[in-house]
Amino acid sequence: MKQVTLSHVGKTYGGVDAVHDFSLTVKQGELVALLGPSGCGKTTTLRMIAGFVLPTAGEIRIGQHNVTEMPPYRRSTGMVFQNYALFPHMTVSQNVGFGLEMRNVARADIKARVLEMLRLVHLDHLLDRYPRQLSGGQQQRVALARALAITPDVLLLDEPLSNLDAKLRHAVRIEIRQLQRKLGLTTIFVTHDQEEALAVADRLVVMNKGRIEQVGTPRELYDTPRTAFIADFMGRANFLRGYVSAPGTFLTQSGQRFYFSGSAPSSTSILSVRPDCIDLVPGDAAPKHPNVLSGIVRAITFLGPVNEVMIGSDTGQTISVHSRTASHDIASLKEGEPVRISWPVKASQILDASDWPDNEGRYKNRTED
Ligand SMILES: Nc1ncnc2c1ncn2[C@@H]1O[C@H](COP(=O)(O)OP(=O)(O)OP(=O)(O)O)[C@@H](O)[C@H]1O
Ligand SMILES: [Mg+2]
Repeated sequence: MKQVTLSHVGKTYGGVDAVHDFSLTVKQGELVALLGPSGCGKTTTLRMIAGFVLPTAGEIRIGQHNVTEMPPYRRSTGMVFQNYALFPHMTVSQNVGFGLEMRNVARADIKARVLEMLRLVHLDHLLDRYPRQLSGGQQQRVALARALAITPDVLLLDEPLSNLDAKLRHAVRIEIRQLQRKLGLTTIFVTHDQEEALAVADRLVVMNKGRIEQVGTPRELYDTPRTAFIADFMGRANFLRGYVSAPGTFLTQSGQRFYFSGSAPSSTSILSVRPDCIDLVPGDAAPKHPNVLSGIVRAITFLGPVNEVMIGSDTGQTISVHSRTASHDIASLKEGEPVRISWPVKASQILDASDWPDNEGRYKNRTED
């Protein structure tokens, strides 16, 4: 197993930057998730690492080797493509054995290895089936077995779960993570599903328009997003416009005062607070936290373990609050009635708003699932 290093890698298609100045080291045995909206350059980045696309700038290393211009079959990368691309005219075992045959491995060894790989993904009973005779999830696992068969130094997964239903998606994602850990595979996993990325990855790389927006552990990106784009991309967030009027104090455009901890960059003008960090204040009770806002309940939506309460707030903005279904605060709430909400100082995040696109409060290029 080897580490992967990209230094200032770029790819231009006819003057358009698909990927720009991309630098990243994926450590040996690490699983890094690459995520971002459609068209942000994820597949292009993965294809450059695999060797199917030649970069127009920068250098790619696998271990000590500069592989920037090396053909794919000499790189020792296993790739699962966005649409799992099995060879339709080959059986399951022929598909899995393909890479070994290309490498002139002896027939008996191929047979043993194919069986071993198919056992790993629990498909050793379907050796002679053709792809069209398999379910989507089974095809996905054959694609994974094929990528693993050559004992790659680096495993590249391009939205490997995109065509599975929610339940299978969850099961296969756990399977991939366990395999990856067991084999100590250096892995880059592309997804546009932020929940999936949070669940599987050691580190996340969020891309936006061909560039890296932020790199960090799932916790770091969720808790301390550097920009409004990241806060919005990594789960739900409410955004209030305004400015930092004094250390630790944020003033909205409509004159409300809110408090935050830590320093804030000077160019900021967005306060972000997540729906699950906000408490409903029951009746006349004293608010638990210093940040308090009043409004009218617009809608209550049952989402299973939580209810989403949409509140038309005094700032003029609609605020989303996630309240646990089991809590009794939610039981007394009625649509059309006044309500107060509060949140802790540390739940206010002050963000760089230089990339803030409009006054609507949402990103237009956000990928909704
Ligand atoms: N062969 C190509 N020729 C011209 N432009 C391309 C080519 N391949 C990709 N692009 C462009 O490069 C950009 C990045 O594409 P890429 O496929 O890497 O996006 P992605 O992040 O994988 O998106 P998705 O989530 O939709 O799969 C897009 O604007 C795309 O149109
Ligand atoms: Mg893609």
